[in-house]
Order: sequence, then C-alpha cells, then structure tokens
Amino acid sequence: GLDISNLRSQSGLITFDPGFGNTGSCKSDITFVDGENGILHYRGYPIEELAEHGNFIETAWLLIFGELPLKEDLARFRALLCAEELIHEDLLHHFNGFPSHKSQPMAILSAVINALGSYHTDLYDIHNKSEFFLAVGKMISKVRTIAAFSYRKSIGRPFMYPDPDLSYCHNFLHMMFSIPNKHYDPPIEAVKALSLVFMLHADHEQNCSTSTVRMVGSTQANIFASVSAGICALWGKLHGGANAAVIDMLEQIKDGDITIDEYLEKVKKKECRLMGFGHRIYKSFDPRARILKKAADNLLQNGFNDQLLDIALELEEKAIADDYFTERKLYPNVDFYSGIILRALGIPVAMFTVMFAIGRLPGWIAHWYEDFENPTTRINRPRQIYTGQTQRNYIPIDFRK
Ligand code: ACO
Repeated sequence: GLDISNLRSQSGLITFDPGFGNTGSCKSDITFVDGENGILHYRGYPIEELAEHGNFIETAWLLIFGELPLKEDLARFRALLCAEELIHEDLLHHFNGFPSHKSQPMAILSAVINALGSYHTDLYDIHNKSEFFLAVGKMISKVRTIAAFSYRKSIGRPFMYPDPDLSYCHNFLHMMFSIPNKHYDPPIEAVKALSLVFMLHADHEQNCSTSTVRMVGSTQANIFASVSAGICALWGKLHGGANAAVIDMLEQIKDGDITIDEYLEKVKKKECRLMGFGHRIYKSFDPRARILKKAADNLLQNGFNDQLLDIALELEEKAIADDYFTERKLYPNVDFYSGIILRALGIPVAMFTVMFAIGRLPGWIAHWYEDFENPTTRINRPRQIYTGQTQRNYIPIDFRK
C-alpha cells in the first residue's frame, strides 16, 4: 500500500511518471515533434525542407537565434567560426591526460568541452547577446577541432590543425583525415552528406541529453559545463550510443555470427534489442530515418560501397513485416541509417557518438539559452515516491543483527 501522504508536495500532488513519458518539463519554441504522424519541425520549418535546401550552419543559426539567417548573418557567423577554430595550445595538454591508443573520444570530448570553459571564464556569466554570440561561436567551432583531435589522439597520430579556407564540414574531415603534406580532399557528396547528418541530429526537443543540459543549466551552471553534461548523457547506447551499436549488430550478421532471422528471434525473446529501432515519441516513422535512408542509398550509388546497407534494408523489411515490432510500434530511428553514412565517409565507429554530439550542439545551446533567458525558469528538481523504511530508532553497533 502506498502512503498517500508521500504524494503530496507544497504545490499539489506528485505525479509518478517513470522515464518522464508524459511530463512536460518546460515550454519551448524551438522544435516541434508529432510522433504519431512522423512530423519534425525546427522553429516551424519541416525537417524535409531544411534537409533539401539548407545546411548545418544555417540550421544551427535557425535553432539558436530563431530565424533563418540573412546573408549578412551567415557571413558574420562564418567569420566567427573561422576565427574561433583553433583551441588554446595549453588545452592540448588535456588530451595527453588520456591513455594513448585506447582513449574514448566521448570521454575526451566531454572533459575538454568542460575544460574549455576555464579558458573563457569571462563567458561563465553571460550578460548580453554579444557575449552569447561569442560563446556560441567558440563552442560550435571548437567542438569540431576537439572532436577531430580526440580521434587523432585515440589512434596515436599527431593533430592536424584546422584550415580556415574550408567549410565547416570539409574542415572537420580535413582535421580527421589529412596527413602532413597531404590534404584530404573529400568528394562534394561526402561533405554534403556530413552536413545532412549533423543537421538531422541538431535538435529533438526534450530528449535525454537536452533535458540534461537544461537540468544543469537550471542551476545557473555555465554553458560549457551544461553542454559537457549533455555529452555524457548522450554517450549511453539507448541514446547517442545507438548508432555504433547498430553497426556492431549489422557486422555480426555480415560476419555470419548470426542470421537476420536468428537476430530477430533473439530480440523477440528479449535477449537483446534491435538497435536503431524504436523511439519514445515516434510511433509510425521517424522522418529523419526516412531522409537518411535515401541519403545512404544515394551515397552508395555514388561509389561508396557497403554491404551493411543491404543487410540493414533486409533487416528493416523483415522487422516491419513482423507483428512483434508493429504491435509495439517499433520502426527505424535516426540511428539506423546514420551509421552507414558515417562509415561511407570513413568515420570510425568509435567516433559515431561524437558525430552525434557535434550535430546536437546547436540544439543544446538553443535550449540552454531558452531557459537562461526565461525569467520564470526554476531550478529543475523532480520529486520522488519514497518506498523505503518508515522511521526507526538508531541501533548501536553491538546490538545490530
Ligand atoms: N528492440 C526490441 N524491442 C524494443 C525496442 C527495440 N529496439 N525498443 C522497444 N522495444 C520494446 C520493449 O521491449 C517493450 O516491449 P514490452 O511492451 O513487451 O515490454 C516496448 O517495446 C516498449 O519499450 P520501452 O523500452 O518502454 O520504450 P521506451 O520509449 O522507453 O524506449 C528506446 C525508447 C530507448 C529508444 C527503445 O526503443 C530502444 O531501446 N531502442 C534501441 C536503442 C536505440 O535505437 N536508441 C536510439 C534512440 S533515438 C536517439 O536517441 C536519437
């Protein structure tokens, strides 16, 4: 029996909503999701239109500042990103604190983003729009340098410094893959595909990592610390870690360790989950998965071969023809096809969740700022239903059994 007095708070009854499936934690103007009908809008613009006509940097501006940028906005933003692409040489020492060859890029990313704040303590307290703009530029530009450096560190290679003449996505690929005296020159399709992947990950209302950023931000923690917490929340395989888990699963099938039918049987016996399937909100389809499926197909037709795409297509076909999955409304989510695109671009699986983090950064920043600007924001502090012991008396150690 539940003691009803446990459910009372100063302001009414406490709701019990495990996993917050039905709890609105805030009001937000940023992203609209209609999970029943597979609809996603950023600031009112359908994701399909942004994917067709826009790019990542324009989308970042839209999410953070609320409107599509004018030409002069974009020029100012690009100039800031260029100016901010390097990180302080002292910050490089942080990379050396991680073990060579087996360091985890997500661990480096979260730690170095937090450390980055110590180099810009003047931005710990933001007083006006121009300070916020500067913080945005620093984070969005430097995250890609830190991410690429974390990869170079993880494979024991020297860092490749950014090249200000390159576009945002091209520059990232350069820092990942160029070697001294040999610039990596990706095909234009690869640069576009990367921009698309980032854009489709850029926001998704109150998902776990974004809620974490808002939660930490609600204590008036600085933007670097709040985003660093979001990166940690993203790490898990039920969230941003799913893209790497999808590739593991497809590779097991490719290597002949298990067939598709056997895998689906294991899932139905609840021995494992079908990674890249299912979503808390989308119950008919995830519009991002549709766009990425098409993009993966296009990329592979342009000479990037990958047998894993055929396996993914067959797996999807079999799963959606099976009552187990349709009854539970389980369909591919954004992670099911993003990994195939990232693989085609040469991004190693250990970097997949980092790629998600780069894409999600504008969303985290937009949400942090929305709370920051809102005078009615209160510290986030959920309640609980206490199920432990009722009051009892202290027992001296000699009398304990
Ligand atoms: N494979 C098999 N069964 C699943 C899956 C899956 N991927 N997802 C949910 N189910 C089943 C559950 O076992 C449960 O079945 P039951 O009613 O028989 O017990 C039912 O569907 C409901 O599942 P919940 O866990 O309650 O769904 P929830 O909304 O809490 O979880 C989540 C959503 C975490 C995304 C889940 O679908 C999952 O684990 N998917 C695989 C991991 C993944 O792809 N994560 C990426 C999500 S998208 C993102 O973060 C960008």
